[in-house]
Amino acid sequence: MKRILAIESSCDETACAIIDEEMNILSSVVTSQIDVHSRFGGVIPEIASRMHVEQISTIVNEAIMESGYSVDDMDAIAYTIGPGLIGSLHVGGIAAKTLAFFYNKPLIGVHHLKGHIFINELIKPLVYPMMALVVSGGHTELVYIRDEESFEIIGTTLDDAIGEAYDKVARVIGLPYPGGPKIDKLAKEGKKNYQLPTPKVDGLNFSFSGLKNATIQLVKKMESRAEEVNKADLSYAFQETALHVLVDKTKKALELYPCKQVVLAGGVACNSRLRELMTENIKDCDLILPPLKYCTDNATMIACAGMHYLKTGKFVDFDAPSMPSMSIED
Ligand code: KG4
Ligand code: ZN
Repeated sequence: MKRILAIESSCDETACAIIDEEMNILSSVVTSQIDVHSRFGGVIPEIASRMHVEQISTIVNEAIMESGYSVDDMDAIAYTIGPGLIGSLHVGGIAAKTLAFFYNKPLIGVHHLKGHIFINELIKPLVYPMMALVVSGGHTELVYIRDEESFEIIGTTLDDAIGEAYDKVARVIGLPYPGGPKIDKLAKEGKKNYQLPTPKVDGLNFSFSGLKNATIQLVKKMESRAEEVNKADLSYAFQETALHVLVDKTKKALELYPCKQVVLAGGVACNSRLRELMTENIKDCDLILPPLKYCTDNATMIACAGMHYLKTGKFVDFDAPSMPSMSIED
């Protein structure tokens, strides 16, 4: 039975996981720096890399202990090679390279978003061609996946990522970082009260900065008139507008690129309303929603993607650089 140890450190989570080729999770340890970054209203890259340095050995040790195996029992070491914050990526990369060198194991560099996509295999086998709606703090992409080697971005955001828009709107109504989960929760108590403009972009691309700015302007206008902002209603209005765009574009993408399966991927895949809307709207295609626990950054997803590379023998050299702006098409 093949096994992989994987490390994820691209943003503000330090994580290590071990899985086997049947996708059994032997251990999965994640530590988040959210409490520290929330004091600043967002992730501070320099602090993130320092905290990864402080955490990485403990997290890797914990994952090894929890699995009941040793690094000698692994068939490869995988890590997130990009995209992400350069300093943060370096820390995970150096840890992975050190383990691979010391224990003489092959090294696998995984694209972070492929990790978010392949975690869906925990639910059921992936079938191609497949469409992925990737929605995270840094990305909003429709990815057409012809087979497990061929990824094509057919739609992307022209400005803010969806998670980023959630976090910025949340900040303006006084919710701490990351605001996405808080807006998700508040919106459940909200009703249709505020009108916000629906983003209009031709084709399969997205734009969220107009909606974000309109929401922020509405809050500022009410504040200047000493009117109280109903946070639940505002969350509802923002969320309904933003999520309908995501679902409509996914449906449009499926008309142009017929697929056998659709998967949701990335931190915003946690969103309860998005999961509901996707389930209601994606009817002619098999829809996979990732397990809630593995939507936000973790190393199990890097191990799942890494398992494919282990099977095809796609390894990287020890001098492979981290790639902060790596595209999923690379
Ligand atoms: O994938 P992820 O953990 O990190 C990146 O790779 O970016 O995604 C983090 C993003 C944050 O913007 C966070 O606010 C958002 O995912 N998020 C949510 C929810 N849970 C996390 N957004 C909306 N609703 C949620 N329930
Ligand atoms: Zn992510």
